[in-house]
Amino acid sequence: MQTALDSHAALAALAWQIELGADEAIGDAPVDRFALAEAEAAAAAAPAAEAPRARPAAPPPPPAAPKVDPADVARAAAAVARTLDDLRAAVAEFDLCDLKKGARTTVFADGNPAARVMILGEAPGRDEDMEGLPFVGRAGQLLDRMLAAIGLSRRSPDSETAAYISNVMFWRPPGNREPTPEELAMVLPFTLRHIELVRPQVLVLMGNTPCGALLGRRGILRLRGQWTQAQGLPVLPMAHPAYLLRNPAAKREAWADLLELQAKLRSLT
Ligand code: URA
Repeated sequence: MQTALDSHAALAALAWQIELGADEAIGDAPVDRFALAEAEAAAAAAPAAEAPRARPAAPPPPPAAPKVDPADVARAAAAVARTLDDLRAAVAEFDLCDLKKGARTTVFADGNPAARVMILGEAPGRDEDMEGLPFVGRAGQLLDRMLAAIGLSRRSPDSETAAYISNVMFWRPPGNREPTPEELAMVLPFTLRHIELVRPQVLVLMGNTPCGALLGRRGILRLRGQWTQAQGLPVLPMAHPAYLLRNPAAKREAWADLLELQAKLRSLT
């Protein structure tokens, strides 16, 4: 029968075992040391487990594609356009302006390209986007009446009395916001080529946006009615017809500007 140790005897027994070299606690269950030794020997003889294979190095990423400047793409496409139809197709194929994604149609131009007067507005609105033609909504109807007042019409087959109409942006901006300077800059090469191909005698810029794009100046209420030059042509800035619809009192000045335009055309014949 096992007798209980008192604490002094237990400590003395532990000290005696440590002196003999015991350095770990022994479990309650018996351990077959012979079997353990055999298992250790077998493990030592077994081939080493295969180390996980190193993954092959990933190929280096391809060099980043050079960043394209949309204005350069537009310039190259515009430069090879020999006719207005070529230019219309090049504008329709240009995919780098995000406004195109939200628009139904590309609005290129309307009127007689043989006209002596080329009119540039801002951008298509809802009606223009639906019809694919510039200035067909309320502002466009006012523009037609203004032109008629000095004997001009976009429908005239006679170059003397005809008008040719376009915008400095070919796609409707969402919510009819103004096109940003970046959006305008990327399509400006098309407009410059447009002017070269039409070769009008006089350019009329309707509102701040075309003045900013072609003259680098805004402030239409100061610029209006003052002849200036762009692309080697006489240029007349005028208030936009949409502004005239909102501010009928400004029609008096617009009438003065139309008479200026008429006088210039007479002086150039
Ligand atoms: N306003 C513009 O500037 N252009 C259009 O075509 C229609 C409205």
